[in-house]
Amino acid sequence: MLGQKLLTTLHKETNRLSGIDLTDRSLVVDVPHRYSRIDLTVRKTSVDAICEMKPQVIVHTAAMTAVDRCEQEKELCWNTNVVATENVVTAAQKIGARLIFISSDYVFDGKNGPYTEDSLPNPINFYGRSKLAAENIIRGADISWTIIRTIVLYGVGINTRASFVTWLLDQLRAGKPSSIVDDQWGNSAIADDLASGIDRIITLQRDGIFNIANHGYMSRFEFARLIADKFQLNRGLIAPISTAALDQPAGRPLHSGLDVRKAERELHTSFRTTEEALMLYKEQEKEMDDRTTSE
Ligand SMILES: NC(=O)c1ccc[n+]([C@@H]2O[C@H](COP(=O)([O-])OP(=O)(O)OC[C@H]3O[C@@H](n4cnc5c(N)ncnc54)[C@H](OP(=O)(O)O)[C@@H]3O)[C@@H](O)[C@H]2O)c1
Repeated sequence: MLGQKLLTTLHKETNRLSGIDLTDRSLVVDVPHRYSRIDLTVRKTSVDAICEMKPQVIVHTAAMTAVDRCEQEKELCWNTNVVATENVVTAAQKIGARLIFISSDYVFDGKNGPYTEDSLPNPINFYGRSKLAAENIIRGADISWTIIRTIVLYGVGINTRASFVTWLLDQLRAGKPSSIVDDQWGNSAIADDLASGIDRIITLQRDGIFNIANHGYMSRFEFARLIADKFQLNRGLIAPISTAALDQPAGRPLHSGLDVRKAERELHTSFRTTEEALMLYKEQEKEMDDRTTSE
């Protein structure tokens, strides 16, 4: 999903873009770019392919993001999130490319968020451990790197895995009731703001760690009710539940959230509020529906 947004955002006369994914063909048809189907966990193929592309900047967004699945399929998670990152780092080292890596608030334990870039990571589930291990490989490599941490990422895309926002909208539109946790706190991030933050990082050549997300610290239950309100759907279908009652395979950081003041200050930008981000999502969803109807 973020990869699709990046192609659109980074599409400029001065940039030549290449994308990598596991699908046979690129899902993005309206932005000129080169596309390769590559499994980044396969060392030789991926290192050779990236070296052949010879990018100046690599934005590494590929990951296994299903948190409970990561807990249950640890080897696959490690290969996807850590081994693939090692391969990308190897390629970046060989060709002297800058590497921008997308990490997560799940590197934190959720005991005292919102977190700044200087907060001490302490993951409480396997997904978080895999993202922190990938961060540490990058920090130890002899390359120019930027690590971006983001949280509850969502956006409009083609054939993308359902984000929390997309899933909840589907539930509400189908008139189905949903139980949403009221003891997990944080902000959220629309992929468009993350992609434009990445664009700023590339332009300004900023190294180090940056948090990127929207403004609006709230419980997931409050976020769900805000989504219902902004899309004029029935908030009565949303009931509160505790994280413990869900009994999910992976533990969740409860008091999480990312403080984005450093990114706003150093990248000379400002991120949307959650309300503004949801309105942007609504507009883009409508544009996509209109396009699908007219095709
Ligand atoms: N989603 C969130 O709430 C969230 C929050 C914080 C941080 N992040 C991070 O943000 C980044 C982007 O997330 P996203 O929501 O855009 O994820 P996404 O839509 O799931 O995109 C990840 C892409 O990586 C691909 N991929 C997986 N294994 C691969 C492999 N071995 N080789 C090549 N490609 C592979 C996936 O293909 P398949 O779909 O076929 O597996 C998918 O297209 C990730 O690094 C994630 O950890 C996400």
